[in-house]
Amino acid sequence: MSTDPLIPATAQSILGLDVLFNNPVFAGGIGLAGLGAAAALGRRAVIGGTALLRRQMLVNVEISKRDPSYPWVLQWLAQPREPGGFVAQRITRLRNLAVMTTTKSIDPGGRGAIDGGGAGRTHADFRVQPGYGRHIIRHRPGVFIAVNREKASTTNTSTGEPHETLTLTLLWAHRHLLADVFTEAHALAQRFAEGKTVVYSARRMNWEPLGKPRLKRPLGSVILDEGVKERIVGDVKEFLAAQQWYTDRGVPYRRGYLLYGPPGTGKTSFIQALAGELDYSVAMVNLSEVGITDDLLAQLLTQLPEKSILLLEDVDAAFANRRQRDADGYSGQTVTFSGLLNALDGLAAGEDRIAFLTTNHIDRLDPALIRPGRVDMMVRIGEATRYQAAEMWSRYYGDIDGDGAGCQRFIQRLDELGLFGESKDPSVPARHTSTAAIQGLFQFNKGDMEGAIKMAEGLIPQTFVPESSGGSVKSPA
Ligand SMILES: Nc1ncnc2c1ncn2[C@@H]1O[C@H](COP(=O)(O)OP(=O)(O)O)[C@@H](O)[C@H]1O
Ligand SMILES: [Mg+2]
Repeated sequence: MSTDPLIPATAQSILGLDVLFNNPVFAGGIGLAGLGAAAALGRRAVIGGTALLRRQMLVNVEISKRDPSYPWVLQWLAQPREPGGFVAQRITRLRNLAVMTTTKSIDPGGRGAIDGGGAGRTHADFRVQPGYGRHIIRHRPGVFIAVNREKASTTNTSTGEPHETLTLTLLWAHRHLLADVFTEAHALAQRFAEGKTVVYSARRMNWEPLGKPRLKRPLGSVILDEGVKERIVGDVKEFLAAQQWYTDRGVPYRRGYLLYGPPGTGKTSFIQALAGELDYSVAMVNLSEVGITDDLLAQLLTQLPEKSILLLEDVDAAFANRRQRDADGYSGQTVTFSGLLNALDGLAAGEDRIAFLTTNHIDRLDPALIRPGRVDMMVRIGEATRYQAAEMWSRYYGDIDGDGAGCQRFIQRLDELGLFGESKDPSVPARHTSTAAIQGLFQFNKGDMEGAIKMAEGLIPQTFVPESSGGSVKSPA
């Protein structure tokens, strides 16, 4: 592209200066004065021309930080590119790189459950992005894009965070390439998230990815009681396929699920795995967190990331607050019952939505929550059953326990310990254990069936005995 004004070297060859200097008349000195005048003229022409170019021949595209494409384009800009020629190398440079560091704790099981892990070690991931200021990148031979990333002087009134914009400038003649830029950036972002699940959490009144995308958790790795998983997955898939039905009837295209039961039974893990299965992301809010107010919840719901499952953890927190509000008329820094209902089906509720609510305390919820559009399906995810214990066993030891004898002995041992809620031995109380505890036992005894069976007593839930009657924590033998 010889007419590209962004390449000064080509401009020289257009003027044909060498031809001029090889001309004997010119070399005789007569032309020198004329050359001076021409240069002055030329300079003025260049200045005027630049302004004209800016006005007439360039296209600007401004992308605001609020736009979903913002992070994609930033990431795309930082992609390594072919070096190009001498001039291209001189002018295309990402000056001012900014480093974005995300850290996450390393999950000892490597499974990356949302709240799994916590071994204390962290893994840092650095990604380089164009910093603030102007940059020029060479999109492809002869096509350059000027980039300006700036912090705007205005701020987001709700978060106090400065607005930020990214402006891409291209030649008018190259404007058709803009579509490519966005397509490529989107594809890149998708490739980056392929096989991964992005988990968003509420930060400064916006959804922000929590760490980098996690490897998808296979649905098969979450063992719920027989048929439970299939029932929920089937319902969600049916809902996803029925959008037209809702549109035709003018019904909001929303569905809500409530998973309840004791902690450590796989509720959160299941929702994460389900998102992976559907190729959705997870937008998670924990209602028991301080600072999650009604306003914030309403605001978050109006801007759910596309193709995401809304996950509201610990919804019982909203009901505790209702009582508090009744008493003193002030809702405090957490979500109230009416705030939750509004979020689920009030005006603030987004149009299309799949919501999963979780709670460990179903008894604290209000029946008003269980209504079409709020909660359409309620499922108890309970303590480990024989079926689950056996399934988990075969996931961990299936390859070394060919005839299943180990599994049988394990289940029998749990039965002896009364861990499936029934006991034939009057000296052994009937009790329960959790799938999380079984996972812990198997992870501790990797590849060691005998070890797992021997240590099965560790699955007995610990009971807390008051200080006065001796030891603070007692693990019954
Ligand atoms: N049913 C299950 N199947 C597989 N893993 C489970 C199951 N239940 C719990 N876990 C494991 O235990 C940990 C805690 O599970 P989580 O999903 O957070 O439970 P909940 O949300 O019900 O409290 C996770 O590491 C998860 O992998
Ligand atoms: Mg949970």
